[in-house]
Amino acid sequence: MTTMLTSDLPLNKIGRGKVRDIYAVDDERLLLVTTDRISAFDVVMDETIPMKGAVLTQISAWWFDQLGGVVPHHMISADAAEIIDAVPALKDHRAALAGRAMLCRRTTVFPIECVIRGYITGSAWKEYAASGTLAGETLPAGLQESERLAPPIFSPATKAETGHDENITIARMREIVGDETAYTLESMTRAVYTQGEAIAREQGIIIADTKFEFGRDANGRIILIDEVMTPDSSRFWAADSYAPGRSQPSFDKQPLRDYLDAERRAGRWNGEAPPPKLPAEVVAATSARYLDAYRRLTGTDLVVK
Ligand SMILES: Nc1ncnc2c1ncn2[C@@H]1O[C@H](COP(=O)(O)OP(=O)(O)OP(=O)(O)O)[C@@H](O)[C@H]1O
Ligand SMILES: [Mg+2]
Repeated sequence: MTTMLTSDLPLNKIGRGKVRDIYAVDDERLLLVTTDRISAFDVVMDETIPMKGAVLTQISAWWFDQLGGVVPHHMISADAAEIIDAVPALKDHRAALAGRAMLCRRTTVFPIECVIRGYITGSAWKEYAASGTLAGETLPAGLQESERLAPPIFSPATKAETGHDENITIARMREIVGDETAYTLESMTRAVYTQGEAIAREQGIIIADTKFEFGRDANGRIILIDEVMTPDSSRFWAADSYAPGRSQPSFDKQPLRDYLDAERRAGRWNGEAPPPKLPAEVVAATSARYLDAYRRLTGTDLVVK
């Protein structure tokens, strides 16, 4: 099986994230290529996770298909043959595209991470446990760790070039993008998450929280971009083992996190780059988790072509 740490396609590479390589096709289109890189505790591992890139791209593609009636989005195609038809320069690179590439409408990205939380966990739980607030706003007393939040809480952040994203208030978001756009982004975030969370829950996956990005296309329209409700942009929990009052295992990264935690406790890793070498069993278990997330969510096995 081909795995990919970094892509090398005959297009203009305009960006490289922790996980994705971004190419400009022309003024109107981008090609997003999701590699098999994986990060945990903000450190990118040296190993690749087989099928991870394809799982992330095809989960996003599946969601864009589900959500077509809810919000406009950027996906043109996530099918390698269709992408090659649309961009002939890629014709000799089918294997590198298969499953992992998405041809998208290019936008001007709003510099806001639209985070929405349907369950209280992670940094939000830490803040609530310490001060009874989330992003500075008071929440009802007596919430338990991992409890469902109804309605979900919209807690935007700014996209940081380096390091952690910074939480901002909605007032600050309005200053950055304007009142009308702030309202639109929050409404679209709520609509997509509400629909997505309900669909996923029926399939046995709880999407505890997630993060969306939006951009403005050439026609001035605000559209949903980037990856959507994947295990990398969201917390996925198995619904059958969910119980409030404690933290929940991560559906996808738990084998990796457990291994890294053990290495740290044993004093073999300081929590920073460079990461420890991952045993083959940890890589295989993580790959299996990603494939299982795809299978549970969509009800079908991932076929990469
Ligand atoms: N339709 C689009 N138009 C313009 N930019 C886009 C579009 N879709 C996604 N992007 C941008 O492509 C990049 C995807 O890269 P990637 O997710 O790997 O990195 P990142 O978001 O910077 O970092 P990370 O996700 O690791 O925190 C993001 O910067 C995102 O804003
Ligand atoms: Mg990203």
